Amino acid sequence: MKIDPWSSTQYEDYARLIDEFGIQPFDSTGLPNPCKLIRRGAIFGHRGFELIKKAILNRKRYVILTGLMPSGNMHLGNKMVLDQVIYHQSLGAEVFVAVADIEAYATRNVSFEEARKIAIESYILNYIALGLMPGNCEIYFQSKREAVKDLGYSLGKKVNWSEMKAIYGFEDSTNMAHVFSPLVQVGDILHVQLERYGGPRPTLVPVGVDQDPHMRLTRNLASAYRLFSVKEVAEENVGIFVKGDENVEELLDAAQKTLSEKGHEDFESNYAYKALYIKDAGKDDITDIEASLIPTELTFGGYGFYLPSSSYNMFMSGLTGGKMSSSVPESVIMLNDEPSVGAKKVMNAKTGGAISLDEQKKSGGKPEDCTVYELLLYHLVEDDDELKDIYDACKSGDRMCGECKKYAAQMLEEFLRDLAKKRKSARNRIDDYVVWE
Ligand code: TRP
Ligand code: SF4
Repeated sequence: MKIDPWSSTQYEDYARLIDEFGIQPFDSTGLPNPCKLIRRGAIFGHRGFELIKKAILNRKRYVILTGLMPSGNMHLGNKMVLDQVIYHQSLGAEVFVAVADIEAYATRNVSFEEARKIAIESYILNYIALGLMPGNCEIYFQSKREAVKDLGYSLGKKVNWSEMKAIYGFEDSTNMAHVFSPLVQVGDILHVQLERYGGPRPTLVPVGVDQDPHMRLTRNLASAYRLFSVKEVAEENVGIFVKGDENVEELLDAAQKTLSEKGHEDFESNYAYKALYIKDAGKDDITDIEASLIPTELTFGGYGFYLPSSSYNMFMSGLTGGKMSSSVPESVIMLNDEPSVGAKKVMNAKTGGAISLDEQKKSGGKPEDCTVYELLLYHLVEDDDELKDIYDACKSGDRMCGECKKYAAQMLEEFLRDLAKKRKSARNRIDDYVVWE
């Protein structure tokens, strides 16, 4: 199995993704006021989220960064990412949003002008309407941000064609703009750690799991550009190794100085091995040691990137059953849908109801197989007790699909109407968010 970010494959076997790709199961323990997607297990996996959790618990700075693809319109599936962004913003995270106009051009043949229009009308206005706050938030266009393209280009030096093919399945016929677009995304994710954009700090990228190849590439490159590697070595010691051949002794001495300021005392350095061993440290200290070496790396001209973390949300099913696809309008609720149109889609949606009313009264419905329940779960019902009542009533055969759909359709219609109103008033606030140049 290969994950392809540009195909419309649905990845539903989350356990398998965790096993096969080394994605970690998401553990929300300790997060303050978790948003409903987190409470309800819709964020199923992560890479490196420990770093973010630590920043949250210790009230340290961190960034949440996401990107939008201005090729199709924003739908409820895209909203799941934004809900996480808004949650982290409420915890104090800085927010960056990339408009992936280069990627849309390279992979979907969307012109830059068209991309700009879609980004504003379909995404940015909805982001604001949904409650993204200005201030510590900036939305930028890939094509306009030199630092992003430059960084992608520079870091591209440490990944070769055969690795790119292995990650993305590129072929001889793949156009070169497409080949370069993942590096632009690497630039998106890592440029926020450049000094001009706030310096090295933990960065969270909430995405659908189709984006995992980009995360692997980005984490590999972030790590390849670190000057030190930190590993557990025999007998529960930690070894710090200089990766390149320049300034080896100076780097090791600087590392020792930094770590003794952190309270470590038992060192042994071996210049020939380009190594510094810390004997009063174990593998649980590795992340902290890596972080504390960042300022040293910056002094020596490195980037000192924290490995970016990711969190993966589950996909929504299409309302007609099967996968949600923009090319099947009845299968997906667009945020810009007319409220009555959205409601109609819900009324026609595939439910987990039994073949007859009698049968459903007897053996109950299947909320876990119901696209209407999914709407309630991920979007429409805020209150956990209310949701549980619906679930139980469905299971026990006390709730029938007809009334249930009507209830969901009404809520959705109300939601879309309210959103449209908020979009209207968002229009003159766009400049508070977007950095145009
Ligand atoms: N590739 C993403 C998509 O297809 C869009 C994107 C561009 C992105 N840059 C990003 C996502 C940075 C997360 C982080 O939707
Ligand atoms: Fe779905 Fe509601 Fe029918 Fe249960 S009663 S299967 S939740 S539509």
